[in-house]
Amino acid sequence: MKKNLIIIFGALTVFFGAYSVITLHDTYFKWGRMWQTPAVRPHEDPILIMDEDAVPVHGGEALYRKADPATLYSPFSPVTAEIIQEGSKLYFTFCLQCHGPNHDGQGTVGQSFAPLPTDLRSAEVQATGEGLMFKEISYGVDRPDGRQPALATTIFPDERWKIVHYVKSLGER
Ligand code: HEC
Repeated sequence: MKKNLIIIFGALTVFFGAYSVITLHDTYFKWGRMWQTPAVRPHEDPILIMDEDAVPVHGGEALYRKADPATLYSPFSPVTAEIIQEGSKLYFTFCLQCHGPNHDGQGTVGQSFAPLPTDLRSAEVQATGEGLMFKEISYGVDRPDGRQPALATTIFPDERWKIVHYVKSLGER
């Protein structure tokens, strides 16, 4: 019995002893196996250089969002009848459901909103600057109870400007 224990203990000692020696040898000595495989160390490769235009810094939605509305101008000047015509088409695609065919806020979907969609031919809306109207359509109305949906991801910027021109062209009732 005692002999068996000595044999087992001896075997374990030999096994773990050999294991430690091999591990230490592999890890710390130049001729160990860990030194034979290629190892890429941190920062060994040069950092990739990004293309100049990989990050947009001129134009783009983020700048529109940040801009003071007073400094936002439509790219369409002069505003031709054709642009207003296109704005009209876009209105009847994107705004009709809520603001209605008569632009008075009586659209079918809009009736479930509180506050109700605004009459786009009201004096207030018609007096709204183009830049501000563009931002309202794009990012919603800047009020806690503002219910105008943010449509920046739904409508292209140029199309939003066309809609603004169309709404403005309607004039006050
Ligand atoms: C899902 C319904 C919905 C859609 C679609 C919608 N609107 Fe509105 N809109 C509203 C509601 C509701 C209000 C009232 C907002 C408020 O007073 O909080 C509003 C308000 C407005 C206002 C007035 C903002 C102000 O200063 O009070 C303008 C201008 C406007 N919408 C333009 C548009 C245009 C242009 C479109 C299409 C591109 C459009 N809306 C699409 C629901 C909608």
